[in-house]
Formats: sequence, C-alpha cells, structure tokens
Amino acid sequence: MIRKVLAIESSCDDTSVAVVDDKGFVHSCLSQSQYEAHKPFGGVVPEIASRNHTHHILPLIDAVLKQAVCTWDDIDGLVVTSRPGLVGSLIVGLVTVKTLALVFNKPFIGVNHLEGHLVAPLLSDSTYKPSEDFTYPFVGLTVSGGHSSLYFVPSFGTYQELGSTIDDAAGEAFDKFAKMVGLGYPGGVQVDQWSQKGDKARYQFPRPLIKEDNFQFSFSGLKTAALRTLEKIPEAERKAELPHLCASYQEAIADVLITKLGQALKKLGLKRAVITGGVSANSRLREKAQELSQNDGIQIQIPPIRYCTDNAAMIGFAGIQRLNRGERSTQSLGPKPRAPLDQDHS
Ligand code: KG4
Ligand code: ZN
Repeated sequence: MIRKVLAIESSCDDTSVAVVDDKGFVHSCLSQSQYEAHKPFGGVVPEIASRNHTHHILPLIDAVLKQAVCTWDDIDGLVVTSRPGLVGSLIVGLVTVKTLALVFNKPFIGVNHLEGHLVAPLLSDSTYKPSEDFTYPFVGLTVSGGHSSLYFVPSFGTYQELGSTIDDAAGEAFDKFAKMVGLGYPGGVQVDQWSQKGDKARYQFPRPLIKEDNFQFSFSGLKTAALRTLEKIPEAERKAELPHLCASYQEAIADVLITKLGQALKKLGLKRAVITGGVSANSRLREKAQELSQNDGIQIQIPPIRYCTDNAAMIGFAGIQRLNRGERSTQSLGPKPRAPLDQDHS
C-alpha cells in the first residue's frame, strides 16, 4: 500500500513539487512560476522553460519535504507528469523522478497531465475539502492554456472524451485576446481583472458552435470577431472601452463553456460535474457555474485557484491511485508531447 508520494509537474512553464497521500490530502505543494522569464517574449519559450526547471526542481523538492515534515523514509513512491507537454520541460521532471526512484529504491509512475486536472477538484488540504457526497460518475470540463475538453468520467481512470476544441483552447483564446488589446502575458488573469468594471453586454461577440448538437468548441472565430471590433474603435477610445471589451469577450467564452457543460449533463442524465484547468480560475465562469448549479440542481466541484492552474498535487493524487492499483512505470519511460486522455494506455 502506497500511503504518500512525492510528485513533480514540469510539463510547461511552472515547476511544481508536492507531497500527497492516498486520500488526496496535500501535505505540501510548492510551485515556482517562470512568469518573469517568459514575459518579454509574450509566451512560453520552451528552451528557457526547461533550463529554469533544472534550476528550480531540487531546491523545491527539499523545501516540500521540509514543509511536509517528511524524510525519504516517509515517501512510498514517486509520480511525474510524463505527457502531454513540452518535451524539454517534461524531461526535467522525468529524469529527476527516475533518478530518485533508483537512488531511494522507490516505485514510480508517469501520469497524464489531463488526468491530474480531472482529479484536482477532489484534493483536500487544511483549508479546502470537496463535498463529502461528491463522487463518480461525473462530467469533467477541462479548460486550460493547451486544452478545452468535455469528458464523461464513470470512475477513476476511465475517460470518454465527449468533445474538445477544434482550434484554440479557451486559455489560448484569453491569452491571444489579452495580447491583442495590449494586456500582456499570461492574459487570462488580466482579462478577468479588467472585466470586473466592464459591461458584459456592451459588445455582442459570437458564441461559436453553441447551438450545434455536439460537444466541440471553437474559439478562433471569436478572436477574429474581437479583432474586427477593436479595429472599429478609435485609438483614443480604446482604453476606456477596454473593461467592456474584456467583459464581453469573457462572457462569450464562459457562456459557451457552461452551455456545453449543461448540454452534456442533460444528454448523459448526470447531475455532477467538475470544472478544472487554469481557466476554471475565471470569476465569470465560476459565477455561471453557480447559476447552472442552482437552476438545474447540478453539483459542481471546482478546485480552489491553487489547484486549478498547473500543480504537482493533482499529479500526485492521480499517480498514487494508479500505484495502488499495482501500476508501475519503468526506467524506459519517456515524454510524449501529445496524449489524448481517452486513447492513453501507457
Ligand atoms: O492549466 P494551466 O495552468 O496550464 C495549462 O495546462 O495550460 O492553464 C493556464 C491557462 C492560461 O491560458 C491562463 O491565461 C488561463 O489558464 N487562466 C485564466 C485565468 N487564470 C488562468 N483564464 C481566464 N481567467 C482566469 N482568471
Ligand atoms: Zn494544465
């Protein structure tokens, strides 16, 4: 029985390390952002990301063990994100975990980053606990910088993709819009903040595929519509219009995501959902989720913001459940840039 694991997440730009137990309780989770390093480039530069992971990872491991009041004797196994992600970034976590597994003679497993996001709402710590009666099966909406998908999740480890984005991910749509209106990187948080004082009904942006009888998303047309709207606003008025542009754009994305989630729940006859991934930090998306919950009697579990964005705690919780089913990775495990969750067998 594996009771406690040390987990590493380094699939993109954040380096994160956590100690998690088999109940999903987070004993410690520390992350180092690389925001400042990538900011001048307006996006993540893969070479810079992997180099910074190598600098951050060992001090983070020491700090996490200290904060969790653990020694290596207390750690029964290791978990690492092995797919999907930036190959150079994934390799840093992988090599670290494979080395630690050899040195300390511990079992380890590589997990899919998206599985981590889907179990994130079920984590707990000293200030967050999911509802006690929340359980499988549920519909999972995973919305991040690289992914926007709806899944039917009958039990841990079984994922049926109902639909996903056919072009940009929701987070990408936020980030590209933010760049377009001069808000910098990463844009989602900034658009959310600027929206607070904006009128969400001032601009009518399209809701792509909202009426289609499927669970696909498309956000590239929305971005083009925003660009056309922006071009029509005289330069001198753009600053004053920015809160309204942000609020209207955010409303369109939140509307599409929550409408599709509601449709999926209806089609499957389910009353439970999780919303997860970086975009689930969005305040308007959370409000609309609350509305769906109240209007349709849906139980929706959204993790606190620290577990919405990339973090090692969610990776540890996915991995420990797999280790306790007897699954193990071997030293031949390598990174994969792409790994759709419903076709993932490694
Ligand atoms: O899950 P995540 O940390 O990394 C990926 O796996 O992609 O998600 C990052 C994405 C970024 O696109 C970021 O702009 C978006 O999540 N994001 C937000 C908010 N906070 C982060 N988007 C909208 N509103 C937010 N408050
Ligand atoms: Zn992510």
